[in-house]
Order: sequence, then C-alpha cells, then structure tokens
Amino acid sequence: MQNLNEKIVVVIGGTSGIGLAVVKAASQLGAKVYAAGRSQTNIDKAKAVCDDTVSFRLADTHDDASLLALFKEAGEIDYLVSAATGADRTIAPFVEQTAEQFSAAFQKFWGYTNVVRNGEAFVKSNGSITLVSGTPARKYKSGMSSLSCTGGAVEAFIKALAVEIAPKRINGVSPGLIDTAMWDVMGEEKQQKLADMTVHIPMARAGKPEEVAQGVIFAMTNSYTTGTIVDVEGGTLLS
Ligand SMILES: NC(=O)c1ccc[n+]([C@@H]2O[C@H](COP(=O)([O-])OP(=O)(O)OC[C@H]3O[C@@H](n4cnc5c(N)ncnc54)[C@H](OP(=O)(O)O)[C@@H]3O)[C@@H](O)[C@H]2O)c1
Repeated sequence: MQNLNEKIVVVIGGTSGIGLAVVKAASQLGAKVYAAGRSQTNIDKAKAVCDDTVSFRLADTHDDASLLALFKEAGEIDYLVSAATGADRTIAPFVEQTAEQFSAAFQKFWGYTNVVRNGEAFVKSNGSITLVSGTPARKYKSGMSSLSCTGGAVEAFIKALAVEIAPKRINGVSPGLIDTAMWDVMGEEKQQKLADMTVHIPMARAGKPEEVAQGVIFAMTNSYTTGTIVDVEGGTLLS
C-alpha cells in the first residue's frame, strides 16, 4: 500500500461501516481525512476509534449546502469517496410495492449525484471519485428489484462520468454482504442471519468493512483505473 502523506481524502458516509474503514485506512496511510455523515451520534462513535487527525463533519448527500461547505473546507481534494446509504429500501416483489416504495431506494443514487455535482470541481485533475455500489447491481434476486435498479444506475453513472470528467477518474467498489451497522436491524440474530445468507457463496461468510476498504484504496489511488467497478464480494456474483 502506498503512502498517502499530504493527500486530502473526503469520505461521505465515513462515520460507520465501509466508509469508516476507508477513513481509518487512509488516515493510517498518512492522508488528511475528512469524514462526514448526518448524525452526531455516529460521528462521536467514529471519533472514538480514529486518531485525532481525522476531521469529522455533519453533511447529508441530500443537502447541497452541507456538501459544499465540506468541500470548500477540504479545499483541493485528491480522493473523494461516497459510501453513504441514505435511502429506505423495500425488499419485496416489484408488483407488491407502491411507486413511492420502489423509488425511495433511488435516494442513494440521487445522493451520489449530489456528491459528484457539488464535489467534482474540488477534485484535483489527477484525483478521483469513488462510489460504493453493491452486488444487486449485477446479481438478481427475487424481491431485490429496487436495489438492482439503483445499483445499476450507480454503475452506469460511474462509467458515463468517467468519459466526461477525464483526466479526473471515477470508479465504483461493489461489496457483497458486509458485516456493518446496516444490518443491525436484525438484532441479536444478526450474526446467525449473516452466516445463513452467505453460506452458499465461495467464501462462505460475510465480508469485513476493512476488506472493502482495501478495494476502495485501490480504486481511488490507481492512476490508470477509471470507469471500473471493483468487486469485493466473496464470490457472490458466481454463486
Ligand atoms: N453492508 C453491506 O452488506 C452492503 C452491501 C452492498 C452495498 N453496500 C453499500 O455500501 C455503502 C456503505 O454501507 P455500510 O454497510 O457501510 O452502511 P453503514 O455502516 O450503515 O454506514 C453508512 C454510512 O453512511 C452515512 N449516511 C447514510 N445516509 C447518509 C446521507 N444521506 N448523507 C451522508 N451520510 C449518510 C451513515 O451515517 P449517518 O446515518 O449518521 O448519516 C454512515 O456513516 C452503502 O452505499 C451501502 O448501500 C453495503
């Protein structure tokens, strides 16, 4: 892994799970890191596990003013990452969902477009943007159509923008099932349920946020990688 000394890294959704793992990895590699999320509670929890060189800020992918304030403060950004969830998802057959339920999942996509619209001008010409997608973009399961369509939109957006914003780069990282706070709604059965949901994939376990962060560090720093989706999914797409 390379040295990120003197690099400026901004991670939206950097207060939990995959984003927080990117924040820790980039910080350990020497970068000046700005990490953002919507809630002070998550910021306080994240602060407790990061060194004090990380700057935590409140920002919401659906609030342009908060994004712009963050980007202005960060200045010339080397690597901009968004790992924000920011959407209500309904897991159910398409025809059983209301239009509102189905379209709610797209709030993640609209949030990402807001990050890029507000942030691109701040990214250095040799810098990059990395967005976090997910296996449903290319792995189709009953009840998951809203996630597949949202993920497909995120991946198409990445490829379309790679052509437009060159020489700046933009890539995606697509995680499989990763053990993060996103699954805390499962309560005490979380670990058993994650194990059950991954028993059939080649790696036969849920992934760790740190494993996805390695993919993000690669996508954001490799100077000849753009419009690419890095899959970190334990073989999910094969299963
Ligand atoms: N975990 C998985 O199995 C998995 C699988 C495939 C794809 N993904 C994708 O990976 C990304 C990261 O997920 P995760 O598992 O790391 O989730 P997580 O642990 O819940 O972390 C989500 C982060 O995003 C922030 N966030 C949510 N909405 C936001 C918004 N509108 N504006 C700014 N920040 C926002 C959260 O903080 P606040 O809530 O305080 O804002 C938090 O820092 C998401 O895009 C998710 O869809 C995850």
